[in-house]
Amino acid sequence: MKGVILAGGLGTRLYPLTYATNKHLLPVYNQPMIFYPIQTLVKAGITEIMIVVSGPHSGDFIHVLKNGKEFGITHLEYAYQEKPNGGIADALALAEDFADSGAITVILGDNTTDADISPSIKSFKEGALVFVKKVSDPTRFGVPKFDPSDNKKILEILEKPKDPPSDFAVTGLYIYDKNVFEHIRNCKPSGRGELEITDVNNVYIQKGQLGWAELDGYWLDAGTYDTLLQANVYWSKKESAPVKISE
Ligand code: TTP
Repeated sequence: MKGVILAGGLGTRLYPLTYATNKHLLPVYNQPMIFYPIQTLVKAGITEIMIVVSGPHSGDFIHVLKNGKEFGITHLEYAYQEKPNGGIADALALAEDFADSGAITVILGDNTTDADISPSIKSFKEGALVFVKKVSDPTRFGVPKFDPSDNKKILEILEKPKDPPSDFAVTGLYIYDKNVFEHIRNCKPSGRGELEITDVNNVYIQKGQLGWAELDGYWLDAGTYDTLLQANVYWSKKESAPVKISE
């Protein structure tokens, strides 16, 4: 399977850090943020990767990643999202030719995880699969509503709900079959002017084609000051160089 890393967006919640470089090139302990999603894909056996970039610092990715050989990437492609905040589904639409009618694993460039996603990739056949994770603050995320009579089934995904139907977040890791691009074409921009990946996932639900798996490991999106700090602390401890932070 091929993989797509979505590293567009403007990273406005990390201003002023992102005035000078792209969010996904900021440090998370001893590596630029984007190394983590790359490693997640490569560890899962995905070595043909497209990275979607946007915004004023897009060129910086080439200096950092080059052709990706040092990560074990066998084929690295870049695409440029012209509307930097067009939405996650808008960024994913750029991967249609690259996907070449095959299934793709998608990960957001600010998501860091040490979970092994290879079992889900190996068993994926068709439709879509979202990776979910229990969180303490579900109102910040897309939240799955599970079928009470069959909790293997997601009935709906609610975007940043005030009253979350579960304490799970839909993380920024997904697997899609080739139909995802058709579904994106049928999506309309949301109230905030973005093509929402939650809308695409809800189309798969309506078709009875959305599966899910719980991420078995640490997961965090590092897109805010607090979560960027948390990610730095987690990865520094994991790399056996504990950071001592006094209150
Ligand atoms: P967000 O964190 O929702 O958006 P952002 O990166 O623009 O940051 P902010 O809200 O602070 O302005 O996006 C999550 C990830 O999705 C991001 O790391 C990259 C990807 N993304 C795109 O590739 N294109 C987009 O248009 C958007 C909105 C996000």
